[in-house]
Amino acid sequence: MAIPAWLQDAVFYEIYPQSFYDANGDGIGDLKGIIEKLDYVRQLGATAIWLNPCFVSPFQDAGYDVADYRRVAPRYGTNDDLVRLFHEAHRRGLRVILDLVAGHTSVKHPWFKASAEALPNAYSNYYIWSDDWGSSDPAYRFINGYSDRNGNYMINFFHCQPALNYGFRDPDPQQPWQLPMDHPDVLRVREELRDIMKFWLDLGCDGFRVDMASSLVRGPQAEAGLRELWQDYRSWLERNYPEAILVSEWSDPAAAITAGFHLDFMVHFGAPGYTSLLRQENFRIHNSAFGGGSGHSFFDRSGRGSARTFADELTDQLQRTAGLGFVSVPTGNHDLGRLRQGRSPEEVKVALTGLLLLPGVPFLYYGDEIGLDYLTGLISKEGGYNRTGSRTPMPWTADPERAGFSTADPECFYLPPGPPDRPNVEESEADPESILNLTRQLLQLRHAHPALQAAGAYRTLIAGERQPYFYWRESEREGFLVALNPASEPRSARFALAGADRARPVLITPGVELDVRPGATTLTLPPVSYAVYQLDL
Ligand code: NOJ
Ligand code: CA
Repeated sequence: MAIPAWLQDAVFYEIYPQSFYDANGDGIGDLKGIIEKLDYVRQLGATAIWLNPCFVSPFQDAGYDVADYRRVAPRYGTNDDLVRLFHEAHRRGLRVILDLVAGHTSVKHPWFKASAEALPNAYSNYYIWSDDWGSSDPAYRFINGYSDRNGNYMINFFHCQPALNYGFRDPDPQQPWQLPMDHPDVLRVREELRDIMKFWLDLGCDGFRVDMASSLVRGPQAEAGLRELWQDYRSWLERNYPEAILVSEWSDPAAAITAGFHLDFMVHFGAPGYTSLLRQENFRIHNSAFGGGSGHSFFDRSGRGSARTFADELTDQLQRTAGLGFVSVPTGNHDLGRLRQGRSPEEVKVALTGLLLLPGVPFLYYGDEIGLDYLTGLISKEGGYNRTGSRTPMPWTADPERAGFSTADPECFYLPPGPPDRPNVEESEADPESILNLTRQLLQLRHAHPALQAAGAYRTLIAGERQPYFYWRESEREGFLVALNPASEPRSARFALAGADRARPVLITPGVELDVRPGATTLTLPPVSYAVYQLDL
Protein backbone atom coordinates (compact mmCIF):
# COMPACT_ATOMS: atom_id res chain seq x y z
CA MET A 1 0.00 0.00 0.00
CA ALA A 2 1.31 3.42 -0.88
CA ILE A 3 1.50 6.31 1.58
CA PRO A 4 0.71 9.74 0.08
CA ALA A 5 3.87 11.83 0.19
CA TRP A 6 2.13 14.78 1.82
CA LEU A 7 1.73 12.84 5.07
CA GLN A 8 5.48 12.93 5.53
CA ASP A 9 5.41 16.53 6.64
CA ALA A 10 1.79 16.77 7.73
CA VAL A 11 0.68 18.55 10.89
CA PHE A 12 -3.03 18.32 11.69
CA TYR A 13 -5.15 20.83 13.53
CA GLU A 14 -8.40 19.48 14.99
CA ILE A 15 -11.34 21.84 14.80
CA TYR A 16 -14.47 21.30 16.84
CA PRO A 17 -16.73 23.34 14.55
CA GLN A 18 -19.26 24.54 17.10
CA SER A 19 -16.53 26.22 19.16
CA PHE A 20 -14.05 27.62 16.68
CA TYR A 21 -15.41 30.85 15.23
CA ASP A 22 -18.94 32.09 14.78
CA ALA A 23 -19.24 34.17 11.60
CA ASN A 24 -22.99 34.82 11.65
CA GLY A 25 -23.44 35.83 15.26
CA ASP A 26 -25.76 33.06 16.47
CA GLY A 27 -23.36 31.89 19.18
CA ILE A 28 -22.33 28.66 17.42
CA GLY A 29 -19.19 28.25 15.38
CA ASP A 30 -19.73 27.62 11.67
CA LEU A 31 -18.00 26.80 8.39
CA LYS A 32 -17.75 30.42 7.28
CA GLY A 33 -16.06 31.10 10.60
CA ILE A 34 -13.51 28.38 9.92
CA ILE A 35 -12.86 29.81 6.46
CA GLU A 36 -12.16 33.21 8.03
CA LYS A 37 -9.56 31.64 10.30
CA LEU A 38 -7.74 29.51 7.73
CA ASP A 39 -4.85 31.95 7.52
CA TYR A 40 -4.39 31.60 11.26
CA VAL A 41 -4.30 27.81 10.95
CA ARG A 42 -1.79 28.00 8.13
CA GLN A 43 0.43 30.50 9.97
CA LEU A 44 0.47 28.19 12.93
CA GLY A 45 2.27 25.66 10.74
CA ALA A 46 -0.56 23.18 10.33
CA THR A 47 -0.87 21.56 6.91
CA ALA A 48 -4.20 19.85 7.43
CA ILE A 49 -7.44 20.06 9.37
CA TRP A 50 -9.54 17.37 10.99
CA LEU A 51 -13.07 18.64 11.27
CA ASN A 52 -15.34 16.96 13.82
CA PRO A 53 -18.74 15.89 12.42
CA CYS A 54 -20.59 18.74 10.76
CA PHE A 55 -23.59 16.86 9.34
CA VAL A 56 -27.32 16.95 10.00
CA SER A 57 -27.84 15.55 13.48
CA PRO A 58 -30.05 15.86 16.55
CA PHE A 59 -26.76 16.51 18.41
CA GLN A 60 -27.31 14.04 21.20
CA ASP A 61 -23.61 13.30 20.93
CA ALA A 62 -22.32 16.57 19.48
CA GLY A 63 -22.85 15.35 15.90
CA TYR A 64 -21.48 11.83 16.34
CA ASP A 65 -25.10 10.85 15.86
CA VAL A 66 -25.58 11.51 12.16
CA ALA A 67 -29.05 11.79 10.64
CA ASP A 68 -27.93 12.66 7.09
CA TYR A 69 -24.39 11.88 5.97
CA ARG A 70 -24.68 13.95 2.84
CA ARG A 71 -25.87 17.23 4.26
CA VAL A 72 -24.10 19.82 6.39
CA ALA A 73 -26.01 20.70 9.55
CA PRO A 74 -27.78 24.01 8.93
CA ARG A 75 -26.26 25.49 12.07
CA TYR A 76 -22.83 25.17 10.41
CA GLY A 77 -23.91 26.31 6.94
CA THR A 78 -24.52 24.49 3.68
CA ASN A 79 -22.82 21.88 1.53
CA ASP A 80 -21.63 24.76 -0.64
CA ASP A 81 -19.93 26.30 2.39
CA LEU A 82 -18.12 23.05 3.03
CA VAL A 83 -17.01 22.83 -0.60
CA ARG A 84 -15.80 26.41 -0.30
CA LEU A 85 -13.92 25.46 2.84
CA PHE A 86 -12.15 22.65 0.92
CA HIS A 87 -11.31 25.08 -1.83
CA GLU A 88 -10.10 27.88 0.41
CA ALA A 89 -8.07 25.43 2.47
CA HIS A 90 -6.46 23.91 -0.61
CA ARG A 91 -5.56 27.38 -1.88
CA ARG A 92 -3.55 27.85 1.29
CA GLY A 93 -1.89 24.44 1.16
CA LEU A 94 -4.16 22.91 3.79
CA ARG A 95 -5.96 19.58 3.43
CA VAL A 96 -9.25 18.82 5.15
CA ILE A 97 -10.37 15.47 6.49
CA LEU A 98 -13.93 14.90 7.67
CA ASP A 99 -15.14 12.78 10.54
CA LEU A 100 -16.74 9.61 9.26
CA VAL A 101 -19.05 8.11 11.84
CA ALA A 102 -18.95 4.69 10.27
CA GLY A 103 -20.17 2.47 13.07
CA HIS A 104 -23.53 3.95 13.94
CA THR A 105 -26.11 6.54 13.01
CA SER A 106 -28.54 8.58 15.02
CA VAL A 107 -31.88 6.98 15.85
CA LYS A 108 -33.24 9.85 13.74
CA HIS A 109 -31.56 8.61 10.58
CA PRO A 110 -34.18 7.47 8.01
CA TRP A 111 -32.44 4.08 7.75
CA PHE A 112 -32.97 3.48 11.43
CA LYS A 113 -36.54 4.74 11.41
CA ALA A 114 -37.31 2.19 8.71
CA SER A 115 -35.30 -0.49 10.45
CA ALA A 116 -37.29 0.00 13.65
CA GLU A 117 -40.59 -0.66 11.91
CA ALA A 118 -42.49 -3.82 12.85
CA LEU A 119 -42.80 -5.14 9.30
CA PRO A 120 -39.71 -6.31 7.42
CA ASN A 121 -38.40 -3.86 4.83
CA ALA A 122 -35.25 -3.00 2.89
CA TYR A 123 -33.60 -1.50 5.99
CA SER A 124 -34.48 -4.16 8.55
CA ASN A 125 -30.96 -5.59 8.51
CA TYR A 126 -29.10 -2.29 8.27
CA TYR A 127 -28.73 -2.43 12.04
CA ILE A 128 -28.07 -5.28 14.42
CA TRP A 129 -31.33 -6.44 15.92
CA SER A 130 -31.54 -9.38 18.24
CA ASP A 131 -34.83 -11.08 18.95
CA ASP A 132 -33.34 -12.65 22.03
CA TRP A 133 -34.91 -10.89 25.00
CA GLY A 134 -32.83 -12.78 27.47
CA SER A 135 -29.30 -12.12 28.48
CA SER A 136 -26.99 -12.13 25.51
CA ASP A 137 -23.23 -11.70 25.30
CA PRO A 138 -22.23 -8.94 27.74
CA ALA A 139 -19.78 -7.65 25.12
CA TYR A 140 -22.79 -6.30 23.25
CA ARG A 141 -25.14 -3.64 24.47
CA PHE A 142 -28.78 -3.59 23.40
CA ILE A 143 -31.71 -1.23 23.81
CA ASN A 144 -35.01 -2.95 24.52
CA GLY A 145 -38.51 -1.77 23.84
CA TYR A 146 -37.74 1.11 21.50
CA SER A 147 -40.36 0.48 18.82
CA ASP A 148 -42.94 -2.00 17.59
CA ARG A 149 -40.26 -4.13 16.04
CA ASN A 150 -40.00 -7.35 17.99
CA GLY A 151 -36.37 -7.08 18.95
CA ASN A 152 -33.59 -5.11 20.54
CA TYR A 153 -31.03 -3.02 18.74
CA MET A 154 -27.34 -3.03 19.44
CA ILE A 155 -25.67 0.27 20.28
CA ASN A 156 -22.11 1.45 19.90
CA PHE A 157 -22.03 4.23 22.43
CA PHE A 158 -25.09 6.13 23.65
CA HIS A 159 -28.64 4.75 23.46
CA CYS A 160 -29.27 7.01 20.45
CA GLN A 161 -26.40 5.49 18.42
CA PRO A 162 -27.60 2.17 16.94
CA ALA A 163 -24.79 0.08 15.45
CA LEU A 164 -24.77 -0.31 11.68
CA ASN A 165 -24.59 -3.89 10.52
CA TYR A 166 -21.23 -4.80 8.95
CA GLY A 167 -21.85 -8.36 10.00
CA PHE A 168 -20.26 -10.95 12.23
CA ARG A 169 -17.11 -12.75 11.31
CA ASP A 170 -17.99 -16.35 12.16
CA PRO A 171 -21.48 -15.74 13.53
CA ASP A 172 -22.79 -18.03 16.25
CA PRO A 173 -25.08 -20.59 14.53
CA GLN A 174 -27.25 -20.60 17.66
CA GLN A 175 -27.91 -16.88 17.14
CA PRO A 176 -29.49 -16.48 13.71
CA TRP A 177 -29.77 -12.71 14.20
CA GLN A 178 -25.99 -12.55 13.77
CA LEU A 179 -25.57 -12.08 10.02
CA PRO A 180 -22.34 -13.02 8.26
CA MET A 181 -20.17 -10.37 6.64
CA ASP A 182 -21.18 -11.53 3.18
CA HIS A 183 -24.92 -11.40 3.77
CA PRO A 184 -26.40 -9.29 0.91
CA ASP A 185 -28.02 -6.78 3.32
CA VAL A 186 -24.76 -6.37 5.21
CA LEU A 187 -22.91 -5.82 1.95
CA ARG A 188 -25.37 -3.07 1.15
CA VAL A 189 -24.36 -1.25 4.35
CA ARG A 190 -20.74 -1.59 3.28
CA GLU A 191 -21.64 -0.06 -0.08
CA GLU A 192 -23.50 2.78 1.62
CA LEU A 193 -20.39 3.77 3.54
CA ARG A 194 -18.30 3.70 0.40
CA ASP A 195 -20.87 5.90 -1.35
CA ILE A 196 -20.74 8.41 1.49
CA MET A 197 -16.95 8.55 1.23
CA LYS A 198 -17.21 8.94 -2.53
CA PHE A 199 -19.73 11.74 -2.15
CA TRP A 200 -17.40 13.91 -0.06
CA LEU A 201 -14.19 12.91 -1.82
CA ASP A 202 -15.74 13.97 -5.12
CA LEU A 203 -16.61 17.29 -3.52
CA GLY A 204 -12.98 17.80 -2.52
CA CYS A 205 -12.27 16.43 0.93
CA ASP A 206 -8.91 14.80 1.54
CA GLY A 207 -9.90 11.81 3.59
CA PHE A 208 -11.54 10.80 6.83
CA ARG A 209 -10.96 10.27 10.48
CA VAL A 210 -13.02 7.16 11.13
CA ASP A 211 -14.89 7.12 14.39
CA MET A 212 -14.63 3.89 16.44
CA ALA A 213 -13.01 2.20 13.46
CA SER A 214 -12.24 -0.99 15.37
CA SER A 215 -15.84 -1.60 16.39
CA LEU A 216 -17.45 -2.29 13.03
CA VAL A 217 -17.18 -6.05 12.80
CA ARG A 218 -18.25 -8.44 15.52
CA GLY A 219 -17.74 -12.05 16.45
CA PRO A 220 -14.84 -14.20 17.62
CA GLN A 221 -12.79 -13.42 14.51
CA ALA A 222 -13.61 -9.71 14.51
CA GLU A 223 -9.97 -8.67 13.98
CA ALA A 224 -9.73 -10.67 10.77
CA GLY A 225 -13.09 -9.29 9.67
CA LEU A 226 -11.97 -5.73 10.34
CA ARG A 227 -8.90 -6.28 8.21
CA GLU A 228 -11.02 -7.57 5.34
CA LEU A 229 -13.38 -4.64 5.60
CA TRP A 230 -10.82 -1.87 5.86
CA GLN A 231 -8.39 -3.31 3.35
CA ASP A 232 -11.26 -3.42 0.91
CA TYR A 233 -12.00 0.30 1.47
CA ARG A 234 -8.31 1.13 1.35
CA SER A 235 -7.74 -0.57 -2.00
CA TRP A 236 -10.74 1.21 -3.41
CA LEU A 237 -9.42 4.52 -2.07
CA GLU A 238 -5.98 3.93 -3.54
CA ARG A 239 -7.41 3.12 -6.93
CA ASN A 240 -9.68 6.12 -7.04
CA TYR A 241 -8.31 8.77 -4.67
CA PRO A 242 -4.62 8.00 -4.19
CA GLU A 243 -3.96 11.24 -2.31
CA ALA A 244 -6.73 10.71 0.24
CA ILE A 245 -6.12 9.21 3.66
CA LEU A 246 -7.87 7.19 6.33
CA VAL A 247 -7.15 7.98 9.96
CA SER A 248 -8.56 5.67 12.60
CA GLU A 249 -9.85 5.96 16.07
CA TRP A 250 -8.50 2.55 16.99
CA SER A 251 -5.79 3.29 19.54
CA ASP A 252 -3.51 0.54 18.37
CA PRO A 253 -1.52 1.79 15.38
CA ALA A 254 -0.03 -1.60 14.51
CA ALA A 255 -3.49 -3.20 14.30
CA ALA A 256 -5.11 -0.25 12.53
CA ILE A 257 -2.36 0.25 9.98
CA THR A 258 -2.16 -3.40 9.03
CA ALA A 259 -5.94 -3.30 8.66
CA GLY A 260 -5.65 -0.54 6.05
CA PHE A 261 -5.39 2.82 7.79
CA HIS A 262 -2.68 5.34 7.00
CA LEU A 263 -2.54 6.65 10.51
CA ASP A 264 -3.77 5.86 13.99
CA PHE A 265 -3.63 7.61 17.34
CA MET A 266 -1.49 6.20 20.09
CA VAL A 267 -4.07 7.10 22.69
CA HIS A 268 -4.62 3.71 24.14
CA PHE A 269 -7.85 2.98 25.88
CA GLY A 270 -6.32 0.65 28.36
CA ALA A 271 -2.62 0.57 27.58
CA PRO A 272 -0.84 3.02 29.84
CA GLY A 273 1.56 4.87 27.53
CA TYR A 274 -0.31 8.05 26.76
CA THR A 275 -1.69 8.45 30.26
CA SER A 276 1.69 7.93 31.79
CA LEU A 277 3.02 10.68 29.57
CA LEU A 278 0.36 13.31 29.99
CA ARG A 279 -2.11 12.50 32.74
CA GLN A 280 -4.83 13.45 30.27
CA GLU A 281 -8.06 12.94 32.13
CA ASN A 282 -10.06 10.73 29.85
CA PHE A 283 -13.79 11.19 30.00
CA ARG A 284 -14.94 8.50 32.35
CA ILE A 285 -18.04 7.59 30.42
CA HIS A 286 -15.78 5.59 28.15
CA ASN A 287 -15.94 2.14 29.64
CA SER A 288 -12.29 1.41 29.13
CA ALA A 289 -11.06 4.77 30.35
CA PHE A 290 -7.36 5.46 30.32
CA GLY A 291 -6.68 3.46 33.36
CA GLY A 292 -3.45 2.24 34.78
CA GLY A 293 -0.41 4.31 35.52
CA SER A 294 0.77 5.30 38.91
CA GLY A 295 -1.24 8.52 38.89
CA HIS A 296 1.92 10.44 38.06
CA SER A 297 2.55 11.30 34.49
CA PHE A 298 5.87 12.22 33.02
CA PHE A 299 4.78 15.75 32.07
CA ASP A 300 4.12 16.60 35.66
CA ARG A 301 6.04 19.00 37.84
CA SER A 302 6.05 16.51 40.72
CA GLY A 303 8.79 14.70 38.79
CA ARG A 304 7.44 11.40 40.01
CA GLY A 305 6.40 10.10 36.61
CA SER A 306 8.59 8.48 34.02
CA ALA A 307 8.66 8.55 30.23
CA ARG A 308 9.69 4.90 30.06
CA THR A 309 6.29 3.29 29.53
CA PHE A 310 5.43 5.74 26.80
CA ALA A 311 8.83 5.53 25.12
CA ASP A 312 8.74 1.73 25.05
CA GLU A 313 5.24 1.65 23.66
CA LEU A 314 6.16 4.19 21.00
CA THR A 315 9.28 2.26 20.02
CA ASP A 316 7.25 -0.92 19.72
CA GLN A 317 4.53 0.74 17.63
CA LEU A 318 7.10 2.38 15.37
CA GLN A 319 8.80 -0.92 14.71
CA ARG A 320 5.54 -2.64 13.89
CA THR A 321 4.34 0.10 11.54
CA ALA A 322 7.61 1.11 9.84
CA GLY A 323 7.06 1.83 6.17
CA LEU A 324 3.34 0.99 6.40
CA GLY A 325 1.80 4.01 8.07
CA PHE A 326 2.19 6.47 10.91
CA VAL A 327 1.41 6.84 14.57
CA SER A 328 0.10 10.02 16.08
CA VAL A 329 0.47 11.22 19.65
CA PRO A 330 -2.04 14.08 19.76
CA THR A 331 -1.86 17.05 22.13
CA GLY A 332 -5.42 16.21 23.11
CA ASN A 333 -8.82 15.92 21.49
CA HIS A 334 -12.49 16.63 22.11
CA ASP A 335 -12.80 13.52 24.30
CA LEU A 336 -9.82 14.12 26.57
CA GLY A 337 -8.74 16.61 29.17
CA ARG A 338 -6.90 19.74 28.09
CA LEU A 339 -3.12 19.73 27.83
CA ARG A 340 -3.16 22.84 29.99
CA GLN A 341 -5.12 21.14 32.79
CA GLY A 342 -3.10 21.41 35.98
CA ARG A 343 -0.10 22.78 34.11
CA SER A 344 1.47 26.23 33.99
CA PRO A 345 2.23 27.81 30.60
CA GLU A 346 5.90 26.88 31.05
CA GLU A 347 4.94 23.27 31.69
CA VAL A 348 2.75 23.25 28.59
CA LYS A 349 5.74 24.44 26.57
CA VAL A 350 7.83 21.50 27.72
CA ALA A 351 5.03 19.10 26.79
CA LEU A 352 4.46 20.69 23.38
CA THR A 353 8.16 20.55 22.57
CA GLY A 354 8.11 16.88 23.37
CA LEU A 355 4.92 16.11 21.46
CA LEU A 356 5.40 18.17 18.31
CA LEU A 357 8.83 16.76 17.50
CA LEU A 358 7.88 13.10 17.83
CA PRO A 359 7.82 10.83 14.77
CA GLY A 360 4.54 10.19 12.99
CA VAL A 361 1.98 12.90 12.41
CA PRO A 362 1.24 15.49 15.11
CA PHE A 363 -2.35 16.45 15.84
CA LEU A 364 -2.94 19.72 17.67
CA TYR A 365 -6.33 20.16 19.29
CA TYR A 366 -7.63 23.72 18.76
CA GLY A 367 -6.78 25.92 21.74
CA ASP A 368 -3.87 23.77 22.93
CA GLU A 369 -1.53 26.07 20.99
CA ILE A 370 -2.46 28.99 23.25
CA GLY A 371 -2.71 26.97 26.45
CA LEU A 372 -6.49 26.99 26.71
CA ASP A 373 -7.52 25.29 29.94
CA TYR A 374 -10.30 22.83 30.72
CA LEU A 375 -13.35 24.65 32.03
CA THR A 376 -14.72 23.05 35.16
CA GLY A 377 -18.27 23.19 36.49
CA LEU A 378 -20.14 23.11 33.18
CA ILE A 379 -23.41 21.33 32.71
CA SER A 380 -23.10 18.68 30.02
CA LYS A 381 -23.68 19.95 26.50
CA GLU A 382 -24.90 17.69 23.70
CA GLY A 383 -23.72 14.47 25.32
CA GLY A 384 -20.38 15.91 26.31
CA TYR A 385 -20.59 15.10 30.04
CA ASN A 386 -17.14 15.65 31.49
CA ARG A 387 -15.74 16.17 28.00
CA THR A 388 -17.68 19.42 27.85
CA GLY A 389 -14.95 21.44 29.57
CA SER A 390 -12.53 20.62 26.72
CA ARG A 391 -14.95 21.95 24.08
CA THR A 392 -15.27 25.62 24.97
CA PRO A 393 -15.04 28.50 22.46
CA MET A 394 -11.68 29.44 21.02
CA PRO A 395 -10.66 32.79 22.54
CA TRP A 396 -9.48 35.02 19.72
CA THR A 397 -9.26 38.35 21.53
CA ALA A 398 -8.92 39.75 25.04
CA ASP A 399 -12.60 40.79 25.05
CA PRO A 400 -13.61 39.60 28.54
CA GLU A 401 -17.20 38.77 27.61
CA ARG A 402 -17.14 37.36 24.11
CA ALA A 403 -13.48 36.42 23.65
CA GLY A 404 -13.76 37.45 20.00
CA PHE A 405 -15.57 34.17 19.33
CA SER A 406 -18.94 35.58 18.38
CA THR A 407 -20.93 38.80 18.37
CA ALA A 408 -23.91 37.04 19.96
CA ASP A 409 -25.15 37.70 23.46
CA PRO A 410 -22.79 35.54 25.57
CA GLU A 411 -25.90 33.91 27.05
CA CYS A 412 -26.44 32.31 23.63
CA PHE A 413 -22.92 30.94 23.25
CA TYR A 414 -22.63 27.24 22.55
CA LEU A 415 -20.54 27.10 25.72
CA PRO A 416 -19.21 29.91 27.89
CA PRO A 417 -15.66 31.02 27.19
CA GLY A 418 -14.56 30.76 30.81
CA PRO A 419 -12.85 33.27 33.11
CA PRO A 420 -11.61 36.52 31.54
CA ASP A 421 -7.96 35.74 32.33
CA ARG A 422 -8.05 32.90 29.80
CA PRO A 423 -5.32 33.02 27.14
CA ASN A 424 -6.28 34.40 23.73
CA VAL A 425 -4.83 34.50 20.24
CA GLU A 426 -4.49 38.29 20.00
CA GLU A 427 -2.28 38.64 23.08
CA SER A 428 -0.45 35.40 22.41
CA GLU A 429 0.56 36.64 18.98
CA ALA A 430 2.03 39.80 20.48
CA ASP A 431 4.00 37.99 23.17
CA PRO A 432 7.24 36.45 21.86
CA GLU A 433 7.33 34.15 24.90
CA SER A 434 3.82 32.78 24.40
CA ILE A 435 2.90 29.15 23.95
CA LEU A 436 1.56 30.12 20.54
CA ASN A 437 4.87 31.49 19.37
CA LEU A 438 6.74 28.45 20.63
CA THR A 439 4.24 26.22 18.79
CA ARG A 440 4.92 28.15 15.59
CA GLN A 441 8.68 27.81 16.05
CA LEU A 442 8.44 24.10 16.75
CA LEU A 443 6.36 23.50 13.64
CA GLN A 444 8.67 25.65 11.52
CA LEU A 445 11.59 23.62 12.74
CA ARG A 446 9.75 20.42 11.94
CA HIS A 447 8.90 21.56 8.42
CA ALA A 448 12.49 22.57 7.76
CA HIS A 449 14.03 19.20 8.70
CA PRO A 450 13.08 15.73 7.42
CA ALA A 451 14.73 14.28 10.52
CA LEU A 452 11.88 15.73 12.58
CA GLN A 453 9.10 14.70 10.22
CA ALA A 454 6.91 11.62 10.16
CA ALA A 455 9.44 9.05 8.94
CA GLY A 456 12.57 10.51 10.55
CA ALA A 457 14.15 7.88 12.79
CA TYR A 458 13.42 7.87 16.53
CA ARG A 459 15.51 6.52 19.36
CA THR A 460 15.01 6.86 23.11
CA LEU A 461 18.21 8.08 24.77
CA ILE A 462 17.05 8.58 28.35
CA ALA A 463 13.73 7.67 29.95
CA GLY A 464 13.45 6.33 33.45
CA GLU A 465 12.32 6.92 37.01
CA ARG A 466 13.29 10.39 38.19
CA GLN A 467 15.00 11.04 34.88
CA PRO A 468 14.43 13.59 32.17
CA TYR A 469 13.34 12.28 28.76
CA PHE A 470 15.85 12.60 25.93
CA TYR A 471 15.10 11.35 22.46
CA TRP A 472 16.93 11.42 19.17
CA ARG A 473 15.54 12.05 15.69
CA GLU A 474 17.58 11.46 12.58
CA SER A 475 17.52 11.43 8.80
CA GLU A 476 20.38 11.07 6.35
CA ARG A 477 22.38 14.16 7.08
CA GLU A 478 21.24 15.50 10.38
CA GLY A 479 20.05 14.58 13.80
CA PHE A 480 18.22 16.30 16.64
CA LEU A 481 18.39 15.78 20.35
CA VAL A 482 15.15 16.64 22.16
CA ALA A 483 15.52 16.94 25.94
CA LEU A 484 12.65 17.50 28.36
CA ASN A 485 12.52 18.16 32.06
CA PRO A 486 8.97 18.87 33.26
CA ALA A 487 9.94 18.46 36.93
CA SER A 488 10.21 21.35 39.37
CA GLU A 489 13.75 20.34 40.20
CA PRO A 490 16.84 20.26 37.97
CA ARG A 491 17.59 17.01 36.26
CA SER A 492 20.65 15.79 34.44
CA ALA A 493 21.58 12.63 32.60
CA ARG A 494 24.67 11.15 30.98
CA PHE A 495 24.40 9.54 27.61
CA ALA A 496 26.51 8.60 24.61
CA LEU A 497 26.11 10.60 21.43
CA ALA A 498 28.75 10.54 18.72
CA GLY A 499 29.65 14.05 17.60
CA ALA A 500 27.95 15.68 20.61
CA ASP A 501 30.65 18.37 20.60
CA ARG A 502 29.16 19.65 17.35
CA ALA A 503 25.61 19.90 18.70
CA ARG A 504 24.14 23.39 18.52
CA PRO A 505 21.08 24.53 20.41
CA VAL A 506 18.15 25.52 18.19
CA LEU A 507 15.37 25.94 20.75
CA ILE A 508 16.28 26.06 24.38
CA THR A 509 15.21 27.44 27.74
CA PRO A 510 17.88 29.47 29.60
CA GLY A 511 20.16 27.62 31.99
CA VAL A 512 20.50 24.34 30.08
CA GLU A 513 24.08 23.02 30.11
CA LEU A 514 25.62 20.52 27.74
CA ASP A 515 28.91 19.09 28.95
CA VAL A 516 30.73 17.04 26.35
CA ARG A 517 33.58 14.78 27.53
CA PRO A 518 35.20 11.97 25.58
CA GLY A 519 32.88 8.98 25.80
CA ALA A 520 30.11 10.64 27.76
CA THR A 521 27.93 13.68 27.42
CA THR A 522 25.98 15.18 30.30
CA LEU A 523 23.00 17.40 29.78
CA THR A 524 21.67 19.32 32.76
CA LEU A 525 18.25 20.88 32.59
CA PRO A 526 16.89 23.44 35.07
CA PRO A 527 13.37 22.96 36.47
CA VAL A 528 10.61 22.91 33.83
CA SER A 529 12.80 23.22 30.77
CA TYR A 530 13.46 21.84 27.32
CA ALA A 531 16.27 21.85 24.83
CA VAL A 532 16.53 20.94 21.17
CA TYR A 533 20.01 20.50 19.69
CA GLN A 534 20.86 20.01 16.06
CA LEU A 535 23.77 17.97 14.84
CA ASP A 536 25.07 17.69 11.26
CA LEU A 537 26.02 14.14 10.50
C1 NOJ B 1 -15.55 8.76 19.54
C2 NOJ B 1 -15.74 10.23 19.40
O1 NOJ B 1 -14.50 10.88 19.40
C3 NOJ B 1 -16.63 10.64 20.54
O2 NOJ B 1 -16.69 12.04 20.66
C4 NOJ B 1 -17.99 10.04 20.33
O3 NOJ B 1 -18.81 10.33 21.43
C5 NOJ B 1 -17.89 8.52 20.20
N1 NOJ B 1 -16.81 8.11 19.35
C6 NOJ B 1 -19.16 7.94 19.64
O4 NOJ B 1 -19.29 8.28 18.28
CA1 CA C 1 -22.82 30.58 13.70
